[in-house]
Amino acid sequence: MTAPGACAPPPPPPASPNDGPDGRAWRRPVSSQEPRVRRSGNYFRTKSIEQSIEDTEEPEHALSRSLSALDLTVFGVGVIIGTGIFVLTGTVAKNQAGPATALAFVAAGVVCALAALCYAEFASTVPVAGSAYTFAYASIGELPAWIIGWDLILEFALGTAVVAVGWSGYVRSLLDNAGWNLPDALQGPDVADGVGFDLLAFLLVLLLTGILVLGMKLSARITSLVVAVKVTVVLIVIIAGAFFIKADNYRPFIPDARGQESASGLDAPLIQLIFGYEPTNFGVQGIFTAAAVVFFAFIGFDVVATAAEETRNPQKDMPRGILGSLFICTTLYVAVSLVVTGMQHYTELTVDAPLADAFKATGHPWYAGLISFGAAVGLTTVCMILLLGQTRVFFAMSRDGLLPRFFSRVHPRFATPYRSTVLLGVIIAVVAGFTSISELAELVNIGTLFAFVVVAIGVLVLRRTRPDLPRAFRTPWVPVLPVASVAASVWLMLNLPSETWVRFGAWMVIGVVLYFLYGRKHSRMSPTTDRPAPPGPPVAR
Ligand code: ALA
Repeated sequence: MTAPGACAPPPPPPASPNDGPDGRAWRRPVSSQEPRVRRSGNYFRTKSIEQSIEDTEEPEHALSRSLSALDLTVFGVGVIIGTGIFVLTGTVAKNQAGPATALAFVAAGVVCALAALCYAEFASTVPVAGSAYTFAYASIGELPAWIIGWDLILEFALGTAVVAVGWSGYVRSLLDNAGWNLPDALQGPDVADGVGFDLLAFLLVLLLTGILVLGMKLSARITSLVVAVKVTVVLIVIIAGAFFIKADNYRPFIPDARGQESASGLDAPLIQLIFGYEPTNFGVQGIFTAAAVVFFAFIGFDVVATAAEETRNPQKDMPRGILGSLFICTTLYVAVSLVVTGMQHYTELTVDAPLADAFKATGHPWYAGLISFGAAVGLTTVCMILLLGQTRVFFAMSRDGLLPRFFSRVHPRFATPYRSTVLLGVIIAVVAGFTSISELAELVNIGTLFAFVVVAIGVLVLRRTRPDLPRAFRTPWVPVLPVASVAASVWLMLNLPSETWVRFGAWMVIGVVLYFLYGRKHSRMSPTTDRPAPPGPPVAR
């Protein structure tokens, strides 16, 4: 059964005969002072923290608690370091920020740190699967929670697919070096003439789906090994590369600003359309434009929060895992970008494999092979943990009845939400196989930033509505810090292309329609929902 050391749920009060409209007790009432459902209008009904925690204990919907702070930090590093540092560093240095790319990483890191402090308070107070979705349900209300859950599904699904395709590119380049070539038709839509299928990306997602079905502990072990390889390769880049830095390459450190030639219409950042303000590449503004892009490199620390329910001591371990992994990655990113832009002049950096190519350019191709290997290995964990976050959000929404409850049954042996994992894994594998998704990558950024905004607002709301809750970690300087987090996230969102906003809006409209067609009626918070007692005996784990 569940491992000891889990969060302490509130003491169970006597059972109430009024629990459920049909008179059947489907769960224990949680507190004589705290109503299970706070209603302030149908769409803003909230689910009490106590109830969220209690739901995690229903045997057929309970996850196994096995993760420590170290596991969480490794998970965080495993999902954060990926395409961003291995690919985007070059793109951004060449096109937007020059050697000041390091400052763009600092700016994006600060935005993430503000959000991380809010996530840490929430994750230590509401240690329940679902991350921002669960936090929003506990603080703002059901419709905003649905919106954020729908948003997270987009973020994680697209993120998984984007990284799987990036991984496939690195593996193909390694295979090419070994004289092994896949047929063009199996190299994906970008390479093939006509319809292409990215076989490697497809297989990777299916393999990771299988691993996640087998269980968190197995996933954590594999992750630890892969993260060790990835971090070693990143450290080699920093330490070996430091010997090849030429001071001349840093001049000018912040290149002069110039307008974005290609930015027009929907290509332009929204801020330009709204304020008639012209964004620039390079210069000080270029650093912020670059920050909106390299933000992708930080995505993942929020995924740590989705594993709250599988953590032995979430109150302490969650903040450590979230902030620890973010700090490690920010330090590595700043160091890597300083080294790479010091090794090669930013105008000469390549866009596809900037780290490896910088070593080739300095006459050290052996390192290039090693870096490609590290990237190929490292991206697997990014994919796996994004997929994990995705299934846990889906699981939490399904357990709440906003999506069919069928998907939130855990496996009788592995105690994992296998149905949602398999469903989503197969869909994402097909998306990764058939779709050219590079242009959709910004959608991942906007979705994540939107979640940051909701979480920061949620901290403010919950401090006001539930000041009594024990908070093992408290966000400092409330309300200033959450307000700064909202402002910083919105600022980066405004620096994303208008086209991204349109796509994001379309996804959200679909989500709201689904909520009114299904989620609202089937929600376990709905007074009309039939809420039977959970069937069957406790599952063995
Ligand atoms: N942060 C992850 C990456 O850089 C998503 O690939």
